[in-house]
Amino acid sequence: MAFAIGIDLGGTHLRAALVDREGEILAHERIRTEAHEGAEAVVGRITQLINAMIAAANGETIIGAGIAAPGPLNPFTGTVITMPNLPGWENFPIRERIAAHVPFPVVLGNDANLAAVGEWLFGGGRGMQNMIYVTISTGVGGGVICDGRLLLGHNGFAAEVGHMVLDPHGFAPATATPAGSWEALASGTFLAYHAAEAMRAGTETVLNQLTTPDAVTTHHLDLAAQQGDELAIRLIENAGFWSGIAFVNLLHMFSPEAIFVGGGVSNLGDRLLNPARAEITKRALPGYRNVPIHQTKMGDNLGVLGAAAYAFSSVEFA
Ligand code: BGC
Ligand code: NA
Repeated sequence: MAFAIGIDLGGTHLRAALVDREGEILAHERIRTEAHEGAEAVVGRITQLINAMIAAANGETIIGAGIAAPGPLNPFTGTVITMPNLPGWENFPIRERIAAHVPFPVVLGNDANLAAVGEWLFGGGRGMQNMIYVTISTGVGGGVICDGRLLLGHNGFAAEVGHMVLDPHGFAPATATPAGSWEALASGTFLAYHAAEAMRAGTETVLNQLTTPDAVTTHHLDLAAQQGDELAIRLIENAGFWSGIAFVNLLHMFSPEAIFVGGGVSNLGDRLLNPARAEITKRALPGYRNVPIHQTKMGDNLGVLGAAAYAFSSVEFA
């Protein structure tokens, strides 16, 4: 038996898993990232998690470790360029730092790219040559499997689909994403932001009974929408509309067999995705209209599974 280790580096949590070639998870651990302690401290925690997975493997072969991290990063050099929610990571050679402490190859990839590899090799995309995975969460990201391989591009920065501008006159957030980008119009961050603004402006909404403007999340919007709340329904449909516009663009560009959607906001399910599907029906050219948009069935483990899948595919089949 040979295993790979998958590490998912997120803004709040670090997850690790020991995974076999079929995508079975044999051991799993989750700790807090504590990003404020800086990059070196986080490297220490990742190394600790890798050692825990080595122990769990009980002497069986480990072919390598894959690390998934948000933000544009260079998978060829193993360097993080910048991470919007993690300070102190500018041009940080994370792969080299971790590889110095472990006895097998370490590979680095963008979180959504590696999740796409996980969905492709272990999930709903098995056997496809062309598919796209999109995460709609705090940020919006994506990974494109094109002609049987992960699309990386120059410097490996592809595919930052969340920063695609959909509405040039659209909402301009305080974060790095361009005004009117998919992330600005449909991420969890901005759904919550607009809900909070409406609550503060005195809009009548069930949200007032569920939470405060400072604490409102996509989950509250879901609960409110289930009770027929107009504000919540309107905000979710709007995020679905813009996601539909983005899907239309992705379909025409990459001709995938299917698009899979994950991330916290995707838990809104058909309330989000049906308005998106309606835009595809309305706007896509014939030939692209019937491509299915699926919610991923992989859940919270997709990050670690994708990172492990990436380690298998880049170390074993290189
Ligand atoms: C980042 C992407 C990432 C996505 C989801 C975006 O803000 O630019 O690299 O994949 O968030 O974490
Ligand atoms: Na990506």
